[in-house]
Amino acid sequence: MSFGRGRGLSIFASVSALCLIGLLTGCETVTQTDRTQYPLAVSVYEIGCNTCHGQNLQGGIGPSLQHVGATMTVAQIVHQIEVGGGPMPAYAAPHDEILTQTQILAVARWLATKR
Ligand code: HEC
Repeated sequence: MSFGRGRGLSIFASVSALCLIGLLTGCETVTQTDRTQYPLAVSVYEIGCNTCHGQNLQGGIGPSLQHVGATMTVAQIVHQIEVGGGPMPAYAAPHDEILTQTQILAVARWLATKR
């Protein structure tokens, strides 16, 4: 399949329009509500996780977490954060102690709401 120049541009334009609508309607994934209800989780995420999982959970080096709550339980997310995997660091003792249990649980509970 090949895209002509015009087709590529129009796809770009519609994606941009969607992003704009998302911003205007507040349907971005890290919402103001998240910041109010899960302040600890969002602050931990924005310091330690967004470099790989994206500012809006959209993924990058790591997979998208936008719907992670649909496939993983809180316990599974806690486990993933504790032991890491591939390039993802292990955030908890005995591997390392980058985050406290309180911080890990807060992030996992918040991410589990992303369905
Ligand atoms: C250096 C990059 C990197 C950082 C930083 C990072 N991750 Fe990851 N993450 C990954 C990669 C890569 C995977 C896939 C690992 C695998 O397949 O074993 C992953 C997987 C995950 C998964 C499982 C997703 C799934 O659908 O299987 C969760 C949940 C997760 N990360 C949460 C976090 C959280 C929360 C943080 C911050 C505390 C974080 N990650 C920091 C790279 C990263």
